[in-house]
Amino acid sequence: MGNGSLIHTAKKVVGKAILAADESTETIRKRLATIGVDSTPEINRQYRQLLFTATGIEKYISGVILYDETIRQTSDDGIPFPKLLSGKGIVPGIKVDKGAVKIPGKNSDTFTQGLDGLGKRLTEYKELGACFAKWRAVYTIADDGPSLIAIERNAHDLALYALICQDVGIVPIIEPEVLMDGDHSFEKNKQLTIKILTAVFVQARKYSVDLSGVILKPNMITAGKNNSRQKNIGTVAETTLQVLNKVVPAEVAGVAFLSGGQSPPLATDHLNMINKIRNRLKKSYPGKITASYGRALQGETLEAWAGKKENVTKAQRVFISRAEKVYKAGLGQL
Ligand code: G3H
Repeated sequence: MGNGSLIHTAKKVVGKAILAADESTETIRKRLATIGVDSTPEINRQYRQLLFTATGIEKYISGVILYDETIRQTSDDGIPFPKLLSGKGIVPGIKVDKGAVKIPGKNSDTFTQGLDGLGKRLTEYKELGACFAKWRAVYTIADDGPSLIAIERNAHDLALYALICQDVGIVPIIEPEVLMDGDHSFEKNKQLTIKILTAVFVQARKYSVDLSGVILKPNMITAGKNNSRQKNIGTVAETTLQVLNKVVPAEVAGVAFLSGGQSPPLATDHLNMINKIRNRLKKSYPGKITASYGRALQGETLEAWAGKKENVTKAQRVFISRAEKVYKAGLGQL
């Protein structure tokens, strides 16, 4: 029997779409550079405020993942961002991993840092208003990778992270991301994603993680982005759903896909098709299948904003329009 409050929070987080606004200092710098804007804590704050104060956000977004800098920032009116979000019925969350680093001698393999002092950091984030957390493990498909060492190491760390979160009363999002980088085949991504997710759930059970209080954030099954043989939307959706149905335990509270570099329309269409197919199936993973997109929810908004005050209202409309589509895709109703 699971912990009622964790289950309740997890279900609320996946109720609509999740906005991943948890870009690290380095990543937000890269994203803002694409529109010719220099990242500073103040510019980052103004950009995140644009997103969080967009009229109607609460109709489509049920959770927002924040970064350490952002969870401590306030709106122009001095309202802390977590409070601003929870005032709208949106659950605030926090990215707690400290990024991926190379495993020496293992080419493209990485493990994720951040377990040291995690319980203490989570307790502080909880005081700041976070109710859920995110930890990302990264896997690169290469001729010799990911290795079994990388798969097992990341599975252990994801499980331990989830257990520590639940001990503090925080819902963990487990994010094992197979990158789209490279020219690998669709089939290779499918086989590796099955292997990686299977390893993650084996360890989660060994560590006695309460799966009913866990959200899974996986990649969809696609060919590598440099592979000229991309599959159509129906095939991506059908295969991705098959993989979920094969490896995700029914008690997992919800699945929220990352976009991984897919364009906003494509990431939306894939999610919509996954849910359309699922709605027709008699037997399928029973939990909510939604999105936790970063780039696919924000890409168009960033461009519309371009760092200019006079574009804020227009950019907010662009954001809400994408958020509404992603929300409907989470129901298979586009
Ligand atoms: O960890 C990755 C983010 O939370 C999701 O970002 O949708 O741009 O891949 P993405």
